[in-house]
Amino acid sequence: MKNSYSNIFTFNKKNLKKTINNLNKNNLVCLPTETVYGLGGNAYSKTTIQKIFKLKGRPTSNPLIVHYYNLNDVIDDVITNKLFKKLYKKFCPGPITFILKRKISSKIHPLACAKLNTVAIRFPKHKVTRSILKKINFPLAMPSANRSNNVSPVIPADVFDEFKKRIKIILDGGKCKIGIESTVVDLTNKPKILRPGIIDKNSIEKILKCKVTGNLKTKNKRSPGMMKKHYSPGIPVLINQKKHDGVSAFIYLGFKHKGKKHFFSLSEKSSLNEAASNLYEIYRLIKKKGYKKIQISKIQNKGSGIAINDRIKRSSKL
Ligand code: TXA
Ligand code: MG
Repeated sequence: MKNSYSNIFTFNKKNLKKTINNLNKNNLVCLPTETVYGLGGNAYSKTTIQKIFKLKGRPTSNPLIVHYYNLNDVIDDVITNKLFKKLYKKFCPGPITFILKRKISSKIHPLACAKLNTVAIRFPKHKVTRSILKKINFPLAMPSANRSNNVSPVIPADVFDEFKKRIKIILDGGKCKIGIESTVVDLTNKPKILRPGIIDKNSIEKILKCKVTGNLKTKNKRSPGMMKKHYSPGIPVLINQKKHDGVSAFIYLGFKHKGKKHFFSLSEKSSLNEAASNLYEIYRLIKKKGYKKIQISKIQNKGSGIAINDRIKRSSKL
């Protein structure tokens, strides 16, 4: 199918080959994952990692997630442990990222890990990215495909809006099903959630059969990207709102205001998973419509609601 963007490509054999050729030449490409679109490149190559930080405008102190096809591929790069293997078995490939200790002999370029002695690794589930990971001889350093501090893209056109023609290939994998970034869990010590996601603390505790800490209340220096303002739609966001001010875009859950001007429902059936998958797309839509401010009603703080609240809270920080 043709589209009006010259750098958004349909997923087929020819474009798969083109994408792989580019990755082999240490170029960057944008790929779909089940969570959000990523900006990927060879995690073993210094020039590639430098290109990622530059294109995103990301501080080099904020490390990248390294993406692999499966368990066998990581053993030369990180020190695995029992907790990791349990979670891998249950959730991978899927929307969860593990922080593990880096092997001294690891080929991951130190810049990808912001020179830390830990690495964030993930095994994405989306078939397009899996078919690429299967065919290349290196893992992909792949942050979300947005300029630093913006919200992550969940459709190819959103990726285009971020980088325009500065990226040669955006591979079309449709809308990302999950719509918010993976859960990040630190397994280098007592398990700790650094970034909440669709796989929540309870389901992780169930598999590990031990307590897992969340970092929401404590200031956590181990996940640098989570410290500051992030996930911003580019206009002020007010959370826990009860009353519409008459002019701002108002985001809520349910169908109470269906059809009313200025009101945007994250999920008419009040599903928190559906709400998560629509959040960033609605942020972008509201911005495009020219609104100057977003109000968001209170969202239940359980299950995926914890991840949604984490993102909207961060996006409300000016
Ligand atoms: O769903 C996702 O995880 C997406 C898709 C594309 O895979 N990727 C993503 O990457 O969200 P990024 O770079 O936007 O977010 C990575 C997060 C940041 O908050 C970063 O600080 C944290 O992971 N991180 C990476 N390496 C880390 C490390 N060694 N220790 C602690 N946190 C780390
Ligand atoms: Mg990001």
